[in-house]
Amino acid sequence: MTNLLQVGHAKTSIPIFHTIIHDYENINKSLKEIIIEHRQKFPEDTQSNVKAWHSAWNTHEINPKFQPLIEIVLKGCKFIDEGYNEGRGLKYFIKELWAMMYEKDDWTKRHAHYPTHFACCYYVEVEPNCAPIIFASKVNDGKNNDNEPFILQPKDGLLAIWPGHLHHEIPQTLGKRMCVSMNIGAIDPSQLNTVSKLSCNINWL
Ligand SMILES: [Fe+2]
Repeated sequence: MTNLLQVGHAKTSIPIFHTIIHDYENINKSLKEIIIEHRQKFPEDTQSNVKAWHSAWNTHEINPKFQPLIEIVLKGCKFIDEGYNEGRGLKYFIKELWAMMYEKDDWTKRHAHYPTHFACCYYVEVEPNCAPIIFASKVNDGKNNDNEPFILQPKDGLLAIWPGHLHHEIPQTLGKRMCVSMNIGAIDPSQLNTVSKLSCNINWL
């Protein structure tokens, strides 16, 4: 059963949604304390593509203090569904959430969040000389040779949301970056009965 599927590639543009959220100064003051407190409680690092300290993937289940940020992100997803896509009334929920603290020379290798629907990053406190996030960088692999990367420079209060399959990376940073990322799932309401039968414990918007 070799060569069952052949693959072609269509060049297209992939949207990366970003905004500075309302009242971010107050939100970040609180989030900074929450992240530092969380790190003191759970100092051990989780191994991943992220070569910086980050909390466990299920931090939202361990620490309810991230809930106000989750609500902002889920509203953003709903806005994308209604304002950019076709308004299918999708329900969004958090699959994973983790906080990160990058120090000098920390980085993250190129990766994607497939099969999650959306991935996001919210920047709590960053230094002006911190590394950007680079989407769709060029790779000489026959698929990504001609990419036109999108480079987003973090700022305090910046929220970025993008399709989960989109590759991205963080080069070695000079300045510190404190941020929170999430993997966001989506489901059609007509599938809710099926989901409830599976007794999923999820956080709907
Ligand atoms: Fe990522």
